[in-house]
Amino acid sequence: MKKHIFLGILLFLSQSIWPLPGPVYTLVSAGELPCLRCHKSKKAGKVVHPALEMGCSTCHLSPHEEEKPELSLMSDPPGLCFNCHDQGGFTKKHQHTAVALGMCTSCHNPHSSNNENLLAADIPDLCYTCHDKGIFTKKTVHPPVASGQCSICHNPHSSDNMFNLENPIWDMCVTCHDDKSSGKHVIGGFGFGDMHPTRGIPDPVRDGRELSCTSCHNPHSSNLKHLFVNNTLSPGNLCSMCHKKITIQP
Ligand code: HEC
Ligand code: HEC
Ligand code: HEC
Ligand code: HEC
Ligand code: HEC
Ligand code: HEC
Ligand code: HEC
Ligand code: HEC
Ligand code: HEC
Repeated sequence: MKKHIFLGILLFLSQSIWPLPGPVYTLVSAGELPCLRCHKSKKAGKVVHPALEMGCSTCHLSPHEEEKPELSLMSDPPGLCFNCHDQGGFTKKHQHTAVALGMCTSCHNPHSSNNENLLAADIPDLCYTCHDKGIFTKKTVHPPVASGQCSICHNPHSSDNMFNLENPIWDMCVTCHDDKSSGKHVIGGFGFGDMHPTRGIPDPVRDGRELSCTSCHNPHSSNLKHLFVNNTLSPGNLCSMCHKKITIQP
């Protein structure tokens, strides 16, 4: 109670000493100075949201109007955020479910943070708050996953490619593994010839999907060598995963 009386006196004084209408009153009642006196932690992180410089009232209307403080947001996220941020990057064909649900603040602190981009935690730990870490930490881990670079391949908001990928799967893999594009490596050791398809035809085991590098390799981690997909045990079993469904004409 005392705090509110003090605030009231402060407001009264500021108005009677300097009796200007409207804007100044807003500045004193909702401007950042009186707010930060009690809410210092909101600006304490290494990265401060530039929106804070525009004043707390750009997002909070009048949180202390009632006895019990309220969020009193101008509008709820994501609408609140789209007042200043262009929606374009969030509404592409494949939206991350967390974005589709408007959960901006489960990944971003709206005030300040010690992590780049105001993130609530560093990547990949941020991702593991919702995704099972076990998928990414099997016996053999793909180096870009081991170094936590999820966003080399995935856009956290939305993209035109499935799985929110920055580029189509095959294109993305060959940016780092261009020597594997011919598929020669698949059958090189078997004396069958020197090409194996790696794209452009239907995947015989994943209905509705195109054959690609991930038909045979898990992009994250695997208990098998060469990151082979889980339902196979050895290169021999890998072949039979598809070749009991298709026969090769010699
Ligand atoms: C005299 C100290 C004081 C001042 C000044 C103050 N607040 Fe608060 N505020 C509190 C306390 C105490 C709470 C309740 C505990 C908490 O959430 O930190 C609170 C809670 C809030 C909440 C959270 C309500 C909720 O639902 O959790 C918001 C938002 C808020 N304040 C915004 C502001 C803004 C914006 C200003 C400036 C206009 C401001 N406060 C000025 C002390 C203050
Ligand atoms: C960009 C919009 C935005 C600005 C600017 C902003 N806030 Fe907030 N604030 C939010 C949102 C959104 C939430 C709800 C967070 C959540 O749901 O996790 C929130 C929550 C709060 C809360 C309660 C929950 C918590 O995190 O403690 C307080 C207190 C608060 N804000 C104070 C302030 C103060 C003080 C300022 C100015 C220094 C400020 N806010 C500026 C968007 C903003
Ligand atoms: C799943 C976690 C997650 C959610 C949910 C999320 N973001 Fe992000 N956001 C990130 C990550 C990670 C980055 C950093 C991207 C990078 O490093 O390339 C980022 C970057 C940003 C940036 C700065 C760079 C840029 O792309 O402009 C803004 C602004 C942003 N997010 C706003 C939002 C808004 C608004 C929402 C809600 C509609 C939202 N984010 C939801 C994880 C998330
Ligand atoms: C009042 C305007 C305003 C609102 C509302 C707003 N932002 Fe921002 N935000 C900015 C400005 C200005 C920047 C700096 C320029 C930029 O990156 O677009 C920024 C930058 C960011 C960044 C990048 C910070 C960095 O590390 O560079 C993130 C992330 C972000 N905003 C998230 C959000 C989220 C989430 C919301 C909704 C809760 C939100 N913003 C609401 C104005 C706003
Ligand atoms: C707030 C919770 C949350 C966080 C944090 C989060 N995600 Fe998600 N993500 C989801 C939900 C919910 C789904 C939909 C259900 C599923 O596929 O598991 C999803 C789905 C996905 C998908 C599959 C998309 C598809 O089309 O099937 C990818 C890829 C993804 N997330 C990547 C990430 C990455 C990378 C991060 C860290 C930057 C991250 N997620 C952080 C909640 C989250
Ligand atoms: C080298 C690129 C690459 C990296 C790095 C990467 N991913 Fe993926 N991710 C993919 C591809 C490709 C798919 C689609 C797999 C398929 O074709 O079935 C995928 C699918 C997913 C899915 C949905 C399907 C599933 O397997 O559950 C989630 C969730 C996901 N990734 C999260 C993450 C997270 C979290 C990280 C960081 C720890 C990460 N990814 C790092 C390429 C990558
Ligand atoms: C940012 C670069 C990068 C991207 C993108 C990338 N990789 Fe890798 N990958 C590596 C590195 C580095 C290694 C370790 C050295 C090597 O074997 O070439 C590796 C190794 C591998 C291995 C061998 C693992 C082993 O233990 O034998 C496979 C299989 C693999 N990647 C598949 C993929 C697939 C499939 C994609 C696309 C979803 C992909 N990579 C995308 C960097 C990348
Ligand atoms: C039809 C199954 C299949 C497809 C599709 C496939 N691979 Fe492979 N990959 C294999 C097999 C089998 C091996 C093991 C070869 C060996 O033992 O010499 C392997 C090994 C690898 C290795 C590790 C061996 C090395 O030489 O470093 C990498 C990296 C790799 N593949 C990347 C890719 C990429 C990138 C694509 C997509 C352009 C791809 N693979 C498509 C079956 C496949
Ligand atoms: C993910 C499914 C898949 C796996 C796993 C797979 N293949 Fe294939 N393979 C195919 C498809 C699809 C074709 C194309 C068949 C067609 O053209 O009708 C093919 C074609 C071939 C061909 C004929 C190539 C040509 O010149 O047309 C050979 C030889 C072959 N595979 C050998 C293997 C061997 C050896 C393995 C195990 C290392 C293997 N494949 C694993 C799907 C697979």
